[in-house]
Amino acid sequence: MKLGKLQIEPTAALAPMAGVADTAFRRICKEYGAAYVVGELVSAKGMTYHSKNSAKLLEITIKERPMAVQLFGSEPKTMAEAAEMSLENSPDVIDINMGCPAPKVTATGAGSALMKDLPKAAGIIEAVRAAVPSHIPVTVKFRKGWDDNLINAVEFAKMAEQSGAAAITIHGRTRAQMYAPYADWDIIRQVKEAVSIPVIGNGDVDSPQSAAEMYRQTGVDLVMIGRGALGRPWLFAQIQAYLKDGVVLPEPPLEERMAVMMKHIRLAAELKGEDIAVRESRKHIAWYLKGIRGAAKFRNASGSVRTVEEAQALAQEVIRVNCEEADSV
Ligand SMILES: Cc1cc2nc3c(=O)[nH]c(=O)nc-3n(C[C@H](O)[C@H](O)[C@H](O)COP(=O)(O)O)c2cc1C
Repeated sequence: MKLGKLQIEPTAALAPMAGVADTAFRRICKEYGAAYVVGELVSAKGMTYHSKNSAKLLEITIKERPMAVQLFGSEPKTMAEAAEMSLENSPDVIDINMGCPAPKVTATGAGSALMKDLPKAAGIIEAVRAAVPSHIPVTVKFRKGWDDNLINAVEFAKMAEQSGAAAITIHGRTRAQMYAPYADWDIIRQVKEAVSIPVIGNGDVDSPQSAAEMYRQTGVDLVMIGRGALGRPWLFAQIQAYLKDGVVLPEPPLEERMAVMMKHIRLAAELKGEDIAVRESRKHIAWYLKGIRGAAKFRNASGSVRTVEEAQALAQEVIRVNCEEADSV
């Protein structure tokens, strides 16, 4: 997929996930072949108030590139100002969030609330486009619509294209649907057919086969994965192998999975400090443990892990218990 000067492999991208897909996770996913990553959403208003938290969220390490920073806001002027400020980190792409369903975001007229106000959304895209150098692509991520009474993704996509978006990402659910039930891939196909800019398809891809199926059913230029990659960053390598050679790589052995988990936690600790990193890693530990024997018990234990050393001890215990049980079968 061509995005400005970037050439992005049509394998799979990592979706933006606030509080989850931080630098450490993005880097691990990149190591496994994620073709492109998008940062956690950042408040444009927070940036203009010089929030330290926003500044931190905008940082990009070389190992994450190509990477988009993602901004949200409801005022063209503030969004333009924030986009300009974000240039300090030399983002490869600036993505505008017009899909977030969280009430605290939509109540301010931002995120998916913009799907109810196309002129305002157009004004934001135009303002951001005008605020940054032309070689930096500006993209937009949005949903199928607001609710069953307002399914306007196709019209929205055309508006985004006309307003200067270099590519769009469509998540096949309405705002009302939040994250369930199944994403509508047909609306993704309709969006792809309606515009000439590249389209990234998103929603419910969680295996090499479903990635291939989304490409086949919708014709998108790139598939984007959110929840499917949690605790399974190797999914990107599995998708690559399947799309390129038709090979279905098995899930890595438990020892390797635990080694990846520890690498992820250590990297997070290096980047954020051990206290914060380990606290934030607890949910990742629970995802890495999904599907293994005794997962519920270990997931409970992960809730009280406080140091990298304790996480390492838990990983060793998981391996020991699972190997013993395997030996006794
Ligand atoms: C924990 C979590 C945080 C998310 N944060 C963001 C975000 O910051 N920006 C955004 O555009 N989408 C966000 N999303 C939505 C995802 O990018 C994606 O559109 C959605 O999860 C559907 O894809 P999936 O079915 O592959 O998970 C988030 C989703 C989850 C589960």
